[in-house]
Parts: sequence; C-alpha cells; structure tokens
Amino acid sequence: MADDPIKLFDDWLAEARAAELNDPEAMALATADGEGRPSVRMVLLKGHGVDGFSFFTNVGSRKGEELAANPVASLLFHWKSLRRQVRIDGSIERVSDAEADEYFATRGRDSQLGAWASEQSRPLDHRGTFETRFEEARMRFDGGDVPRPPYWTGFRLLPERIEFWEDRPHRLHHRRLFTRRDDGWSIGLLYP
Ligand SMILES: Cc1cc2nc3c(=O)[nH]c(=O)nc-3n(C[C@H](O)[C@H](O)[C@H](O)COP(=O)(O)O)c2cc1C
Repeated sequence: MADDPIKLFDDWLAEARAAELNDPEAMALATADGEGRPSVRMVLLKGHGVDGFSFFTNVGSRKGEELAANPVASLLFHWKSLRRQVRIDGSIERVSDAEADEYFATRGRDSQLGAWASEQSRPLDHRGTFETRFEEARMRFDGGDVPRPPYWTGFRLLPERIEFWEDRPHRLHHRRLFTRRDDGWSIGLLYP
C-alpha cells in the first residue's frame, strides 16, 4: 500500500487530468465562520506538494473573511469519471506576497483586470457596474503590466488528514486515511 499521500495524490491527479472532461483541479473548499457556521464553494487547486495545497482568491470575499476568523479548512476533490474522492483537512496560511505576485503574473490579462474589477461576494447593483469597473481598470493599466491587487492573494492548506476513497464492486469502497505525525504519516484503512 502506498505510504506517501502526496505521491498518491500526484498519481490520482495525473489520472484525473487524463480522464476528466474539464477542471480536474476543481475542489470544494469548506470554511466556517467564527461561530462555526460552515460554507462551501468550488475553487481551483493551483499548487500542491509536501508544504500544502494552494488556491487563490479575494481576501475580502466570504471565504477570505472566514479564513481570517477561523484559519482551518477542508478540501474535497471528486473525480466522477474515476469514481474517486480525496478529502484533505488542515490549517490555513497565506502564501507570501512574492508567491502571489508570481502566480498573478501568469494569469491572462482579462483575469488580471477582472481581479481589479471584482469585489467578490459583495452584491452588485447590476452587472453593468462590473463592466464599468473592468473598463476603468483596462484604461488605468493601458499598455502596462497589471499589478496584483492588494486584496487578491493565495492561501495554502497544510494537510493534517488526507483520505482517499475509491469505488469498488458491491459497495466495498476502499478508504485510506493518512494522518500527519511528527515523523511522517500514519496510515489506516476505514470501513466503506
Ligand atoms: C469550477 C470552479 C472553480 C472556481 N475557482 C475559483 C478560484 O480558484 N478562486 C475563487 O476565488 N473563486 C473560484 N470560483 C468561484 C467560487 O466558487 C465562488 O463563487 C467565489 O469565489 C465566491 O465565494 P465566497 O463568496 O464563498 O467567498 C470557482 C467556481 C467554480 C465553479
């Protein structure tokens, strides 16, 4: 049995990239507010490795505010074509400004301008407001590089538990739970 959950995740993600119709990096991100009330939404995984699983967003969004109040989260990948899911729980930290700048610079120009135009999770009076703000950003940065907005950055989840689930015949699904220890990971099998 594999004893390195990060390596196993790499293998499963590679298979998902080959099998899924779209967005194999899409994952549900669950957060909770300061009173423990949960909320969930999809985000895209933008990096992963031994040091964690990262995604990018607007810190003023609902998830950004919840992560500031309660810096723990749970991620869930569901690869339907492969009949697999991976669940990852852990604490959250912000990525460095340098890392956020580096990733922001790789985004398409419209996405960069969109980050300036969007006040994520704030109600818009009408869609035209977003388009006006987008046009203002386009004129403001006309011809030059678009810098990263100060409120747009990445978060990294430091995994404490990683559970791999895969479909098996007769509903005898296979579940492997990896729990972080000081010297590596402990591994257990769970009942389906
Ligand atoms: C497949 C998919 C991927 C998404 N990826 C991101 C993402 O990487 N970052 C992000 O801020 N929002 C992403 N969104 C939008 C979020 O699901 C959500 O609507 C938005 O971030 C506001 O969430 P909040 O109000 O809970 O903060 C994605 C949506 C979908 C359906």
